[in-house]
Amino acid sequence: MLTEVVKSQRDSGSFIRPPSSESSVPVAMLPTIFVLLAALATASDAALTRRVVCPDGNTVTNEACCALFPVLEDIQANMFDLDEPCGDAAHTALRVAFHDAIGFSNTQPSFGYEIISPSPDTTADHQDSTGADGSIFIFAETELSFGANLGIADAFNLEAPFIAKHNISVADFIQFAGAVSLTECPGTARPTFMFGRVDAKFPAPDGTVPEPFDPVSTILARMADAGFSPAEVVALLASHSIAGADDVDPTISGVPFDSTPSVFDTQFFVETQLRGTIFPGTGGNQGEVESPMHGEIRLLSDSNLARDSATACLWQANVNNQAHMASSFQAAFAKMQVLGQDVSKMVDCSDVIPVPPVLSASAGRAFLPPGTSMNDIEQACAETPFPTLPTAPGPQETVAEIPQDPATDGQCQDDGEGCTPDVLGLA
Ligand code: HEM
Repeated sequence: MLTEVVKSQRDSGSFIRPPSSESSVPVAMLPTIFVLLAALATASDAALTRRVVCPDGNTVTNEACCALFPVLEDIQANMFDLDEPCGDAAHTALRVAFHDAIGFSNTQPSFGYEIISPSPDTTADHQDSTGADGSIFIFAETELSFGANLGIADAFNLEAPFIAKHNISVADFIQFAGAVSLTECPGTARPTFMFGRVDAKFPAPDGTVPEPFDPVSTILARMADAGFSPAEVVALLASHSIAGADDVDPTISGVPFDSTPSVFDTQFFVETQLRGTIFPGTGGNQGEVESPMHGEIRLLSDSNLARDSATACLWQANVNNQAHMASSFQAAFAKMQVLGQDVSKMVDCSDVIPVPPVLSASAGRAFLPPGTSMNDIEQACAETPFPTLPTAPGPQETVAEIPQDPATDGQCQDDGEGCTPDVLGLA
């Protein structure tokens, strides 16, 4: 329309030129032009900001998003532990969002999409793909028997009653709960959310989820096959800032990966770069190496990614750089959440996602844990020195366990037994 106005002005001999040729705009025309432009601007603003009032009084830009508010209110009040914001339930919901989505491949039919035609390399095939499609729960009896999914039974037990109660796809529920889980954690950038996933028709095969004992090259190759660059892999691993392990060392559970597992801060990237000196429980577990602090566990994969020449500088770039960590995670997570889905058929419901709690500048400042110094940093990035950090005062700490949410216990067992679709409300 703006083009039409300008064109009609040009036709009538009053074409607006840049200020250097002021004389070509008849002064008498200026008020008319400004009124027209102002009216256009107001009309387009209104179109951009038009909002729909949902039956419950919430407002959204797309009416389809109204369906998410009852789910949001229910999981905020009843699924995420109100006493433990960014605690076990939030961590569990975040991990399963990854394990469902990563069952996707751009190259291997058995990993990512059903072969439904002689030439599987077409968009149509990808529309039938797995990925963020709920297969991890819908076919839990199969997928939870895979070694890399050990512990995902917790997520099934936690989320299944809510999935059964709400009328959205299993795939949408898993990714919605994953996005909302992040809003429990100070320091995250507000996640986006696309709505309208199609549920899985078949399970993802074994081998799509990286293992903590996989070499860096294997992890990067698997993630590249799902569409992620090394930078995006490191970005996604910011999730381990709000995480811990229950099963890596079978003698202990709720063992954090960093000293601040309820805050999405950069301590994870600092502490994984410190020299390992101790096992929090027993030694000799597959996929575990020594950590720098009592009560903290370090995955072999995180240790290697922090030190490998392919990823060390990407890893270090997060240290004491909260904004970089939060924004790069936000972008990679958004990409992860729609793997295998046809985004053109989905609705942007980002405005349903709550704003996460703010992490103050002082709380977001990285530090070395008490008793450690810069001499304990195993510098691996060849290009830039590790940022100089202060050591927190006081004696050496034992990092506290993450209290386990009882709702993660239930009929679904670690090997997939009892994780049946009827519990999800599916026939
Ligand atoms: C790419 C390589 C990755 C490997 C090898 C890996 C491995 C692991 C392992 C072994 C655990 C501990 C499980 C247990 O014993 O309970 C874990 C926990 C976790 N991971 Fe990852 N992970 C990877 C990437 C990711 C990504 C991309 C995300 C999310 C976007 C993620 C989110 C989590 C969370 C939130 C937990 C804690 C779960 C809880 O406390 O219940 N991980 N990961």
